[in-house]
Amino acid sequence: MNKANLSIFASGAGTNLLAIHKASMEKDFPGRLKLVICNKICPAFELSKSLNYETKLISNLDIKKFELTAHKELIKKKVDLICLAGFMRVLSPKFVSKWKNKILNIHPSILPLFPGLNTHEKILSNGLKIHGSTVHIVNEKLDSGKILGQSAFAIKSNDLDILIDDIKKYENLLYPEVIRKYIWTFLFKEDKFLKYKKIHVDNAVLSY
Ligand code: GRF
Repeated sequence: MNKANLSIFASGAGTNLLAIHKASMEKDFPGRLKLVICNKICPAFELSKSLNYETKLISNLDIKKFELTAHKELIKKKVDLICLAGFMRVLSPKFVSKWKNKILNIHPSILPLFPGLNTHEKILSNGLKIHGSTVHIVNEKLDSGKILGQSAFAIKSNDLDILIDDIKKYENLLYPEVIRKYIWTFLFKEDKFLKYKKIHVDNAVLSY
């Protein structure tokens, strides 16, 4: 089966990396992970190495140099799609236009609510009762590209750690499915995704 080559950019805990890795182990998942790029030593970096992925650490560089180095690695590995998963640097418009419509991001809020940082804190301080995440295409403006999928759930506790655990639980289900759909629809331009049953979870809504 033809598979798209994926790269993940990560700077954090790596739960989405793990979820994408697990999905990509399925025979009929249309992507395979070829390259992980981290901008610092972090759990995602260690996880990627322990899973034996080609893992590049590109740290201590300004964004221009980071992107030049990353671009070369991406071309070398024939990457078709970049998935940002907790990647804590803002990519330049130049890099985004080089990879136009080929970069996805998962953002921890129901966009267009709360772009930018500290979304969980903003949710709690504004007294919201619902929280969730968005997978979107990355464009030149922060957290504002085309929305491909969202999760939403009722907040059950004002404890930040519980909130983050909850949000990630649903992100880890959502992101691989959005990637699956994106590859079939936008890269392979086939309607095969239609044969997949959408995931249903208790206590949350996943829409993609
Ligand atoms: C996620 O909550 C994602 O929405 C945000 O960064 C976090 C990354 O988590 N962009 P992980 O490193 O995948 O566990």
